[in-house]
Amino acid sequence: MAVPRTAPILVASNRGPVSYTLGEDGSLTARRGGGGLVSGLSAIGPESGGVWVCAALGEGDREAARRAGDSHLNPGDTGGQQVRMLDIAPDVFAAAYNGVANSVLWFVHHLLYQTPVEPVFDAEFAEQWAAYESYNAAFADALAQEAVDEAVVLVQDYHLALVPAMLRERRPDLRIGHFSHTPWAPPDYYRMLPDEVAAGVLRGILGGDRAAFLTERWATAFADCCAAVLGAEIIRDGGGDGGAGGMAATAVRFEGRETRLGVHGLGADADFLRERSRQADVDERLSTLRAQIGPGRKSIVRVDRTELSKNIVRGLLAYRRLLETRPEWRERVVHVAFAYPSRQDLAVYRDYTERVRRIADEINDEYGTEGWTPVALHVKDDFARSLAAYRLADVALVNPIRDGMNLVAKEVPVVSERGCALVLSREAGAYAELGEDALVVNPYDVEGTARALHEALRMSDGERADRTKRLAAAATALPPQAWFLAQLRAL
Ligand code: G6P
Repeated sequence: MAVPRTAPILVASNRGPVSYTLGEDGSLTARRGGGGLVSGLSAIGPESGGVWVCAALGEGDREAARRAGDSHLNPGDTGGQQVRMLDIAPDVFAAAYNGVANSVLWFVHHLLYQTPVEPVFDAEFAEQWAAYESYNAAFADALAQEAVDEAVVLVQDYHLALVPAMLRERRPDLRIGHFSHTPWAPPDYYRMLPDEVAAGVLRGILGGDRAAFLTERWATAFADCCAAVLGAEIIRDGGGDGGAGGMAATAVRFEGRETRLGVHGLGADADFLRERSRQADVDERLSTLRAQIGPGRKSIVRVDRTELSKNIVRGLLAYRRLLETRPEWRERVVHVAFAYPSRQDLAVYRDYTERVRRIADEINDEYGTEGWTPVALHVKDDFARSLAAYRLADVALVNPIRDGMNLVAKEVPVVSERGCALVLSREAGAYAELGEDALVVNPYDVEGTARALHEALRMSDGERADRTKRLAAAATALPPQAWFLAQLRAL
């Protein structure tokens, strides 16, 4: 049965707005995902007829996709949008998602390789790349089927870099935008990719009318790669469209087409966060955390996926160094570290998680006393507990090696009750907007990070509160719904 062309607005992303678990009795339970895109999309409302195309990620998703057949899933609580989940063959999906997207493209954009030994682009990678192409083609096919004439399509992230060009080939009438939620690598690093891959990814994105990023820094790096790898012409007219006012590079011209560049710095969703963080389950966790920290002690909070780019290990080393060089903080501070498991199919992620646990244990063995555990490490994902930690944090540590934006840095100032000092990496996209009121660190400099933690802990109540107010204002300048609408408008 052919899918009718009904959608005037489409979103495409690897991870969709909902995931399903399959019960033993064969029942399916839907769970809404978090993140800016899910709340952003609610801006257009169910009556817009929007469709979200995503991949089925686990067994539950696959079963839901199979049962839906050619019709849409409409799980509710996703802003009323219809969802189409693609049941891509498991081996193709694994090669595209684990092999290319998360082991190669993610590593390149976050500068994560230990280059004397990796990456190695061998025959196995060539196969994975072919899988990545067919996984992108599956998205392009589905979008081409669903879209009405001249529909607007918003393609998300590095998983789907080839979709814009593939979709243009199938449907030249559509308005296509690509949004990168990651940083973009500088040309010298990017060129580690095999030539056809380096060029393929850029050509893929340039197939769209627009390529948008979280900060100007990543947009400029993308333009630089287009010039270095493809010999594309970069237009620098000092103008720029929505969200890109005054940008150095404003468009890329290649093979007779022009792709405009845009910047939309996704902000925190203040209304949602303030409301959600006052609910009973958060209050409950707040009491538990308070008891765990102990009366009169300060807290340094971090919340991350256990992700190599988040730099959790150096964060712990900096905390250890703080306890070593500033003994006055011993027994007076607790480092509350939430490191939620992520991408556990990949051995490097599992090893990294182990390393985080080990160092936390070491610090507790070295410095812990009868009534004081210096590091409270939690690895089980719990959003309500993260919000509780945001409420009570005296210091937030956000020190990624590189990060597209980092929403934790933006959420903490909004939710914080008494003001919270922010120690922030200059390599996070959020630095562009929050740098002035944060204590800025070089993420590789453990000694410097330890000093910043000390300064943050010493900050006066008044100064902390003032800075937090300004941080919260900057962090909420472009909430998810406005962010989403700005992209639509620009297309
Ligand atoms: C980053 C990416 C997203 C991705 C998320 C979680 O924020 O930009 O596209 O969904 O990480 O990673 P996962 O592999 O679990 O989807």
